Amino acid sequence: MATVTEHQSDFSTLPPLPGDVFTAPLRKPAHIGDDWLEPKQADYSSFEDAIWNDLFLRQMDVLPGHACSAFMAGLQKLHLGRGGVPEFGKLSEDLGVLTGWSVVPVPMLIPDHVFFWHLANRRFPAGNFIRSRDAFDYIQEPDVFHDVFGHVPMLTDPVYADYMQEYGRAGWKAMRYNRLKALGALYWYTVEFGLMLEAGEVRAYGAGILSGPAEAVFAVEAQSPNRIMLNVDRVMRTDYVISDLQPTYFVIESFEDLYRQTVERDFDRLYRSLPPAFTYANSAVIDVDNVVHTGTQEYLLRGGRGSGADPV
Ligand SMILES: [Fe+2]
Repeated sequence: MATVTEHQSDFSTLPPLPGDVFTAPLRKPAHIGDDWLEPKQADYSSFEDAIWNDLFLRQMDVLPGHACSAFMAGLQKLHLGRGGVPEFGKLSEDLGVLTGWSVVPVPMLIPDHVFFWHLANRRFPAGNFIRSRDAFDYIQEPDVFHDVFGHVPMLTDPVYADYMQEYGRAGWKAMRYNRLKALGALYWYTVEFGLMLEAGEVRAYGAGILSGPAEAVFAVEAQSPNRIMLNVDRVMRTDYVISDLQPTYFVIESFEDLYRQTVERDFDRLYRSLPPAFTYANSAVIDVDNVVHTGTQEYLLRGGRGSGADPV
């Protein structure tokens, strides 16, 4: 990302999207502007606040010993356990003092280029709605619990906070090379499902792991998944699964390591050399891998989600 500013350096207003760049078509609700922001955060009912509280308590049962220390510290610093869905204004105030980030409400998944633009400005777009009791365990679209509980505590870490901003800037470059899927794989295997080493132990920092009950234990302890040290070139060539536990997790040494591996990378060169499709299956271990744990893939081989297979 060292030369990321070559094409796009001014993110003060939403840059125009070049006509030849493909992004997923999403229907914008009528009351939403080009920034895709809600005019204000939703008013949550007491039932919805209770859903937040129950989700919070459930995660606090499993996360100690599985989540990285930066995440646990972030929960404390932002007082996310004070009860009910956090108020974004207060959250942004606290976060602003720590790392200059804010949290802004959006109605749904937003277009890639708008998402990148908000990140480049240290604004984290968070779903305005919370899941229903019927969808307590699994949701298709990220809600306020996934976004705020899962992602926002990590933004209290100064190096991680810088990584997220650089990721947003890098998104504009990836679009121009038509390599959004490759950059998406990097997001997936770091921001959503990343693991790290702390005093020789594996811990989770990815929001997809930290905001759900099953994956925190599976990612950190189970025998099934591979755990491989992060290599950006390799990760950006690797397919990923969105509807089940991951067959492979990538592990960083530290947030400085993550920042260095990506921000100091020549992405122009990388994008020019990447094939148009993913090269590696999501369960593969390849010869260049620095392997922490070679998974048995037993969970996957038994059929994965919906098959009754234990996440072991
Ligand atoms: Fe997420």
